[in-house]
Amino acid sequence: MKRLLLLLQFTSRAVSWSHTERDGAHTRPEITWTTPCANGLDAKFPAGVECGTLSVPIDHGHAHEGSFNLAIFRLKANGTGPARSLFFNTGGPGGAASTWFEAMKRGGQLWSNKMLANYDIIGVDPRGMGYSNPIVCDPDIFNTKPQLLDSGDNVGFAKTLAFNKAFGKSCLDKTGMLIQFMDSVSTIKDFELVRQALGSDKFHYYGMSYGTVLGQTYAELFPDKVGRMVLDGAVDRRSSGIDSVMAEAVTYQANLLKFFEWCDTDPNCALNGRDVRGVFSNLTAKGSVLPANCSAAAPCRAQVTGEDIIWNFQPALVSPDPLPALGLPGRVLLSEVLAQAAQGNATLFSIPLARVNRSADTARYSYYAVACQDYGTALKTATDVRRALYVGATLTPWNKGVCEFLDIAITCIGWPTKLTNPPRALDPARMAKLPGPPQAAAAVLIVNAFFDPETSPMWATGLREQIPNGAAVNLWRNGTGHTSYFLHGDTSTAIDNFLVDGTLPADDTVLQS
Ligand SMILES: *[C@@H]1O[C@H](CO)[C@@H](O)[C@H](O)[C@H]1NC(C)=O
Ligand SMILES: *[C@@H]1O[C@H](CO)[C@@H](O)[C@H](O)[C@H]1NC(C)=O
Ligand SMILES: *[C@@H]1O[C@H](CO)[C@@H](O)[C@H](O)[C@H]1NC(C)=O
Ligand SMILES: *[C@@H]1O[C@H](CO)[C@@H](O)[C@H](O)[C@H]1NC(C)=O
Ligand SMILES: *[C@@H]1O[C@H](CO)[C@@H](O)[C@H](O)[C@H]1NC(C)=O
Ligand SMILES: *[C@@H]1O[C@H](CO)[C@@H](O)[C@H](O)[C@H]1NC(C)=O
Repeated sequence: MKRLLLLLQFTSRAVSWSHTERDGAHTRPEITWTTPCANGLDAKFPAGVECGTLSVPIDHGHAHEGSFNLAIFRLKANGTGPARSLFFNTGGPGGAASTWFEAMKRGGQLWSNKMLANYDIIGVDPRGMGYSNPIVCDPDIFNTKPQLLDSGDNVGFAKTLAFNKAFGKSCLDKTGMLIQFMDSVSTIKDFELVRQALGSDKFHYYGMSYGTVLGQTYAELFPDKVGRMVLDGAVDRRSSGIDSVMAEAVTYQANLLKFFEWCDTDPNCALNGRDVRGVFSNLTAKGSVLPANCSAAAPCRAQVTGEDIIWNFQPALVSPDPLPALGLPGRVLLSEVLAQAAQGNATLFSIPLARVNRSADTARYSYYAVACQDYGTALKTATDVRRALYVGATLTPWNKGVCEFLDIAITCIGWPTKLTNPPRALDPARMAKLPGPPQAAAAVLIVNAFFDPETSPMWATGLREQIPNGAAVNLWRNGTGHTSYFLHGDTSTAIDNFLVDGTLPADDTVLQS
């Protein structure tokens, strides 16, 4: 019954939207380009990046109730042929395109030259992130965030609930109305306005991680506009509650075990020849607390718990090789940090403190703002949390169920905004409108590593199950690390060949890099 209501609400929103789009013929949205980029961005970006803003409604259902400026960035193709526009999103949620261009300036070869030659790369700072009216919260409250694993008894639960409410309220008070419209449907309607403003006939897209939620949301809302779409590190939105927690926790553990195996065999691991499993298990044992030597320039929590180490280990597994431009250490450095912690110094595992007006903290705040509107939580009581923690500890003893979806499930308890875009299956009738069978003109390429530490291959399979007409193809990388394009291996080449030439790999191709 509830499901039906949600579906109706969804349909009526979609209908009013297509009405707006029809009217849009008269009032095509217009981007204001600023040269050079304002806010000091010109110096932070590689040469040639243009900065624009587009005024978009806070509430797409009630456009007159307020608007804000969406920040848009464009790096024009430098090839000789005609160029199309490629939208991208790097996930999070909380990832802003502006930080990606900053990483390029720091020397990161993020896009291949083939892509740069053939596509105008279009970056959008999604609403509430980067330079698009960023979410503001109280850092002093945020810095008191309690431990997830302590939230399963009455005292711990009360503390967590009090934190969640105070933190959420600070975000609501400091951000205003926008924080109530942070769901992925609102964000993708912003992207669609950008597509219209650019005059692109199709929406070509590369989305990684949580960016795959935005991609599939676009495909469901605007199936006839989908061009070439790559969903790298896929999320299946049918998975929610304990399913999503365990899908991610199991995936994290599988990747962790791969890390240990690597340590056993490769002398480059700082713990090679030692009991790396014993080290990890001791450091992450209940009650384990180590000091951190934080500096004034990079303040962090003075004490590091076992949970903090579990929590910070996961993002460090994102790329086995270092990607300095993206701040990813790679597994060799990670093993050194683990060895340092085994010596009693856990500084590099400490959680950085949020600070007033620091833009980098926006990503952390907007993460919860989106997640609590796209997922929310099924947990209501200490007993509920304890039950989830039992499952996590049983099925994933190495990481005890700790992962992003456990954080979302616990931190969204008592969050002040409504669950406006709850997880559910993609609407089969709308998805059936995607062009198919696969052809060069339009298709969805779903990419996943077998041992991705964050997005499970289950989700790449489950997402595929919801895309009918053979409009999608799966591509696998037989390795570890979260997402594949920025590793620049054979999988990246296959993605380039699809996005640029329209060449799809055979379904279920497995590549080794
Ligand atoms: C396009 O720009 C990239 C990045 O600056 C550069 O490496 C590449 O050589 C350029 N390609 C052409 C055809 O100029
Ligand atoms: C883990 O802790 C136990 C108990 O203190 C100790 O006996 C053992 O040597 C430790 N293992 C490693 C690998 O440090
Ligand atoms: C912290 O680091 C500073 C400078 O590196 C050093 O002087 C100090 O002794 C260290 N303190 C601890 C407790 O490690
Ligand atoms: C602890 O580690 C940090 C980061 O590597 C380092 O700066 C600090 O000097 C270390 N402290 C001690 C006492 O070794
Ligand atoms: C933070 O930014 C706000 C709004 O721009 C400003 O009013 C406030 O003074 C700033 N606070 C600090 C400590 O910089
Ligand atoms: C994946 O890689 C492993 C070696 O790391 C190999 O044994 C296995 O056959 C590969 N699987 C596929 C499907 O390529």
